[in-house]
Amino acid sequence: MDLKKTDKDGNELNLTPKANRSQSDYYSYWKNDPASLEPTAEDIKCELQLQALGDFELLHFPFDSKLFEKQIQEQSFVPYLRREGISNDREGLLLVGLEGDKPTDSLSRPEAIKRAGRMLYEKDFKYPTQAYRDLTSIHPILDYWGELGRTMIIRSNKGGWFPPHRDSPHLVRDCFRVVTFLGSQSGMNSYEWWLGDNRQTIVANKTYFVDTRKVHRTHSWDDDSLHLILNIPKTWENVMKLMSCVEHY
Ligand SMILES: [Fe+2]
Repeated sequence: MDLKKTDKDGNELNLTPKANRSQSDYYSYWKNDPASLEPTAEDIKCELQLQALGDFELLHFPFDSKLFEKQIQEQSFVPYLRREGISNDREGLLLVGLEGDKPTDSLSRPEAIKRAGRMLYEKDFKYPTQAYRDLTSIHPILDYWGELGRTMIIRSNKGGWFPPHRDSPHLVRDCFRVVTFLGSQSGMNSYEWWLGDNRQTIVANKTYFVDTRKVHRTHSWDDDSLHLILNIPKTWENVMKLMSCVEHY
């Protein structure tokens, strides 16, 4: 079995070409359309306030993790952004997607742009799927924000990884990120999250604000390491909501 072409069950993968690192040519974007990268007053005040918090901050979000472990057994994951010629055992489940999306529709932004046939930003994904409704155990984390952007659970299996990258490092990004490490295989023994050259402290079933504009990379040493990734629309109201759940020690 060639795990670069099929998943563990032998199902053929919907492969995406290798990433083109020259795509993020912000200078050309700016030259062609200066307004597209011009921050508003709200962008600047939100980004300054987020910057004041730190890069990887524990949030207060209690939820019923035992109930979650039962509920997640009922869900079916799909391969997540499998690139040609690269072995990377990671899967996903879509919780907030495009209108009419099922939880098993492709959920990475490059795959969704391909199937929608148009450019998409995180905030364009705003429709809760059936999986969102079914996973009542994590509603305390999801419902707190009101309308969310693209939101999903990533399942990283043994050997699964994300290469070093930045997510939307410009000031006009439309969303910021919050991550919950879900289930017993999501703690330090199973999973590594590096931000710059520093490995971050992760406690299983805890939620963190993560500054994903900074270079980060991850890898998994076990199967079934689950991560809830929330894209939260970057509004002053949502920044204030975030401030209210940061653990201040
Ligand atoms: Fe990322």
